[in-house]
Amino acid sequence: METLKSAIEDVRSRYVSANPLSKAADEQAARYLPGGNTRSVLHFEPFPLTMVAGDGAELIDLDGRRYVDFVGEYSAALFGHSNDIIKSAIHEALDNGVAMGAPTRYERELAGLLCERFPSLEQVRFCNSGTEANLMALSTARVITGRNKLLAFNDGYHGGVIKFLGGVCALNMPFDFVLADYNDIDGAASLIDQTGSELACVIVEPILGAGGNIQGNRQFLQMLRQKTEEVGALLIFDEVKTARLGPSGIQGMVNINPDLTTLGKFIGGGLPTGAFGGSAEIMAQFNPKQQGALAHAGTFNNNVCSMAAGCAAMSKIYTAERAAEFLEFSEAFRLSLNDMFASMAVPMYANGMGSMIAIHFSSQPTKRPSDISAGCQSLRPLLHMELLLDGILVCRRGDLFLSLPMDESQLSNARLSLGKFVDRYKPLIEEVLAA
Ligand SMILES: Cc1ncc(COP(=O)(O)O)c(C=O)c1O
Repeated sequence: METLKSAIEDVRSRYVSANPLSKAADEQAARYLPGGNTRSVLHFEPFPLTMVAGDGAELIDLDGRRYVDFVGEYSAALFGHSNDIIKSAIHEALDNGVAMGAPTRYERELAGLLCERFPSLEQVRFCNSGTEANLMALSTARVITGRNKLLAFNDGYHGGVIKFLGGVCALNMPFDFVLADYNDIDGAASLIDQTGSELACVIVEPILGAGGNIQGNRQFLQMLRQKTEEVGALLIFDEVKTARLGPSGIQGMVNINPDLTTLGKFIGGGLPTGAFGGSAEIMAQFNPKQQGALAHAGTFNNNVCSMAAGCAAMSKIYTAERAAEFLEFSEAFRLSLNDMFASMAVPMYANGMGSMIAIHFSSQPTKRPSDISAGCQSLRPLLHMELLLDGILVCRRGDLFLSLPMDESQLSNARLSLGKFVDRYKPLIEEVLAA
């Protein structure tokens, strides 16, 4: 029988033959970029595809091949590529000057749109990325509480310098982190008790995104709210990815008000931005009209193209009604994948919620990162590459993000490709998982 190693070698060699121009581009890029790369997550073996154009929910690569884009810029490309409404908002902003060094109407409007949508937000401040939003939220918690310890979760991801995927990242900020296991109610509660009066905050993704799109259990999130209140620490919801789920993110769904919320990805309509916010009382710390206010800097915090794109995206496209509809549409797709895997009796499962999906090699939903088996990890490159060869662009680690322009036929193409994968590899999948 075919081994996993030989199957991966075979699919990679077909990939190399199919993508000569991307291969050459990768080699050229390596002259001035280490490994040809400036964003680690975009690298995969043997080389990534170089993209040249986007069109709605599809991308076209240098070799002229067209893909349904389920990478979706790791959730930031919610609006697809070159949406007309967003394009004209950016053009309008560009026509009036882009680096004005002054307040503009755009940040005022976008702040209003976000505060009207997310229950815990009375006021926000903008920055340039989700990472920056989290750094600001963590630093704010330290200043407000006068405490140093920050509780985060194993396999959590809050940005390139606040990352706990498979251990503590060497590039992490030297904050005093203590780590608990995600969805471990008793373990996390007792760690909060132990750190008690030294704990500044708990930061949590309400769905563990990069860690496998694992839904946070409602009781787990409620416990975090209750325990942080008991010990006088702040609760930070990192909704950089999950804010797209429904009209007001997971906080609206589970009815929990964190002290601080961080946002990013889609809120700038596909352009770079980030935001952190909370109650007016907490955010008053940043009010420059008050003596001794915290000074929050950033040349591009209110850059007009991102702010204008964000205003158009959140007011004219991703209204609360559209967000509710999209959650239903994308959740139906996720469930249809699980129906298909069950009917084919293959140990595969589409984890996550709505438009945030990760395919795991397991018959059950994954509830904790420790449930992800070594076999599951080792099968991922095979799935990734076979789907790419079939015109379905997914993330190397198994994530699929749906975007607003996706239609039934594109979803059905993805289902068909996954079905073909199962037809071809079911015995191999079973053998690898049994090993
Ligand atoms: C949950 C979460 N928080 C923060 C970030 C960091 O955002 P950015 O890449 O914009 O810095 C990400 C990025 O993937 C994320 O998924």
